[in-house]
Amino acid sequence: MTRWTLRMATTTYTVALGPQWPELVAWGPAGVEDGPSPLANHGQVHFITEADAAPVEYAPRGQRPFAGADLVLEQDSWWRFEEAEISDGLRLTYVDDVLGLRTTLCYRPVPDTDVLLRWVELTNAGVEPLAVTRLGSAGVCLPTRTARLTFLSGQWAQEFQRQTVTLPAGQFRIGSQYGVPGHNYAPWLAIQDTEQAWGISLAWPGSWEIDAEVDPTGMTRVRAGRLPHPGPLILLPGETLTTPQAALAYSAEGLDGLARVWHAYERQLSRPRPRPVLYNSWEATGFSVNADSQLALARAAADLGAELFVVDDGWFTGRDDDTGGLGDWEPDENAFPQGFGAFVEEVRALGLGFGLWVEPESVSPKSHLYKEHPDWVYQIDGRPHTLVRNQLLLNLGREDVREFLWAMLDGLLTRYPISYLKWDMNRPATERGASLPDADGDHVRGYLELLTRLREQHPDVLVEACAGGGGRTDLATIALSDVLWPSDNTAPLDRLAVQDGFLLAHAPHLMSSWVTDAPGVFDARPRSLRFRFVLAMAGVLGIGADITKWTAEHKKEARELVALYKEIREIIHTGEVYRLPDAVQYVTPGTTVVLAWHTGTLTGVPEVPGRPTRLPLKALANGSYVDRKSGARYSGAHLTHVGLPVSWTRHHDADIVVLDHVAT
Ligand code: GLA
Repeated sequence: MTRWTLRMATTTYTVALGPQWPELVAWGPAGVEDGPSPLANHGQVHFITEADAAPVEYAPRGQRPFAGADLVLEQDSWWRFEEAEISDGLRLTYVDDVLGLRTTLCYRPVPDTDVLLRWVELTNAGVEPLAVTRLGSAGVCLPTRTARLTFLSGQWAQEFQRQTVTLPAGQFRIGSQYGVPGHNYAPWLAIQDTEQAWGISLAWPGSWEIDAEVDPTGMTRVRAGRLPHPGPLILLPGETLTTPQAALAYSAEGLDGLARVWHAYERQLSRPRPRPVLYNSWEATGFSVNADSQLALARAAADLGAELFVVDDGWFTGRDDDTGGLGDWEPDENAFPQGFGAFVEEVRALGLGFGLWVEPESVSPKSHLYKEHPDWVYQIDGRPHTLVRNQLLLNLGREDVREFLWAMLDGLLTRYPISYLKWDMNRPATERGASLPDADGDHVRGYLELLTRLREQHPDVLVEACAGGGGRTDLATIALSDVLWPSDNTAPLDRLAVQDGFLLAHAPHLMSSWVTDAPGVFDARPRSLRFRFVLAMAGVLGIGADITKWTAEHKKEARELVALYKEIREIIHTGEVYRLPDAVQYVTPGTTVVLAWHTGTLTGVPEVPGRPTRLPLKALANGSYVDRKSGARYSGAHLTHVGLPVSWTRHHDADIVVLDHVAT
């Protein structure tokens, strides 16, 4: 059988050409392909077809009728192999002579990472329209005995909760029909057997599905793709449809190693820009935004060392609460009596960059925009609108809507010296009827087109992606934005869990995090200001508290911590991440930074006998390490096998330790 081996940084992915479909031979550390395939079926099939038992890479229903197909058309499809092309990857083309469908499976290794991108191009070379009801980007078989699946689930204010299930047989499915990836599941899945971990992540900011099925032989097959919604997708003669990319990652070092593979990929995918320490006024002032309140906060933020001031929701006309204003993107004259431009200049005169919140896709029924263009929102003739957070959603599939939004965004960015835009989206899509079978795809393309235009025409503006918290965190959004807002829940212990899950899938330089005054939403145990800071320092530090009310003592501590963060920010944003229990270690060749939090009960030390907690560190070099603050010196072996000592007390519940490597 003809075979192709795709080479990533340290891993390989080998595909063999079967008679009608390609099969996976091996996927793992380089060299795994050198031996008999662990996936090939050696037995006879009973009551199923050969394709159902084979480790197929991608198959249409028809050809693989029982065990799950990657492509489902209203008429079943059967293929023959046509050609293979090798360029910066591999392209395998199959043809259905009856339907006139050409399907090209595309593979592209991402240089210097252990990530392989897969997608599919479908061309209707026939004479009849083709109706697609299931559209996978990739399917992949894993040689697990028992699949341990890790996924990230939750809801608004509770995103990225890490969950694990063991699947000895049967099916597992996660997905979204929200029109955005949603809060319920991240479009990401990790599969483990022993220590090895395989992962899949989808570059699609719309509706999606990922499923896993363990067949009776113990082989796990994972499929990922966008969800044709409401569907079916119609592929007219002569048209080509390209699926979103599914990224595949592998690590021999378990989930933690897999996270490092994703981090490395996301560092390539996103722009290498410094992410400023920001202040965001949402939690301090809510919808009561006016020049005086914002300037008071901006002065306090500048004094703490912030680099950027972001005015969140509430700055535009008609936005006194969440029932109005969306669509009418003009600054509220009553709130900014000297003019918005003068206000922005006052903020910038404090030495701060200026950032602004927008929610381009939404419209309030009370707005002027809605009165002028009621036909711009999703609606089904004769059916009522559904309001979510009192708002409707614009149809970004319409060119006039996109042009309006572009003029609005470009106008704001041209009129005011804005260096940061928070792009929010606070409701899922509803009322997308049969007249718009690919509403999901059209909306996604509109959103990505606007983000692309922003990047091309305002390259100095950083974009924060947000959808009611972490409702739109996918690889396509990441490629066109600079930071993600993982959750509206900023309460310390809740945030720790959110960030723990987030860092499994995404890199720290994308993780926006604020120090706030929020009590716990789910876990209300109080935590120190330091705890909140150390938590927000684990990614892109922001402050969202009412800092005009902070005591002089808190401000002093905050100033010191912001300064320390600036010193270590580069290490946090580019270092290799090792996750320890209630701690994260960031490793660069010269320096290791450890951020640690205390969450459990206290031992009573020093009132009673006892000893410090030890955090065994990872990936250290030979030689010694010196604690930049205390001057304590430890050998790499001591830190690795005995651990870094940390002493928790009632007043000391978080720590930052910076260890510089010194050759002995
Ligand atoms: C969403 C965002 C918040 C904030 C509010 C404003 O919930 O996630 O951060 O911007 O909207 O309405």
